[in-house]
Amino acid sequence: MGFQGIIFDLDGVICSTDHYHYLAWKALSDRLGIPFDLERNNLLRGVSRMDSLEIILEKSSKQYSEQEKEIFAAEKNSLYRESLKEMTPDDLIEEVRQTLEKLRIMGLKLAIGSSSKNAPFILERIGLGTFFDAVADGNSITRSKPDPEVFLQAADMLGLTPGQCLVVEDARAGVEAGVAGGFSVAAMGDAWDDQRAAYHLHRFCDLLKIAG
Ligand code: BG6
Ligand code: MG
Repeated sequence: MGFQGIIFDLDGVICSTDHYHYLAWKALSDRLGIPFDLERNNLLRGVSRMDSLEIILEKSSKQYSEQEKEIFAAEKNSLYRESLKEMTPDDLIEEVRQTLEKLRIMGLKLAIGSSSKNAPFILERIGLGTFFDAVADGNSITRSKPDPEVFLQAADMLGLTPGQCLVVEDARAGVEAGVAGGFSVAAMGDAWDDQRAAYHLHRFCDLLKIAG
């Protein structure tokens, strides 16, 4: 309570791009004959592209060179970007849009803290290219979640301390990152029941009660 800023994860919190990540990784895994399903996909939430690939390759019987891994990651990203190109502002759920607007009217500063290098492109596709007061993402950090760097960077860009900000996350790695950075965390989706989180969101609009 009494927060001055909210830092949102992007994939799986603001929009359902987490499913497009899954479909692209699934296509690559199938091609390589590596078992991969929705449950294993949850391990990739919040984790960087290359770290995600390493988790997928743990189930492979083959060893791959760094050069091959770069090619696999590029292949996955290219498939993923094809899905992103299809996104429009209609892909932003109305409840999310209205909640963001109400939080802004309540005077909160709003930021994105995402591990994704595609974050600026996604925000532009869904019509939020200029909405947030700050965007910290995979392009500006050196360490991915569960390291708190991306959230600390976002808070700094907002001119706030971690204690003044709430982090909203659907990834267990993201909840861990938020807590490690000294933030209160609201967990949703796959991370909903994570006991390290201070709040557990049934619906996105529950944020209005927490921040109000
Ligand atoms: C995070 C996703 O937001 O971004 C991860 O939860 C993803 O699943 C990571 O691996 C990196 O995304 P990108 O778009 O840079 O490949
Ligand atoms: Mg996420």
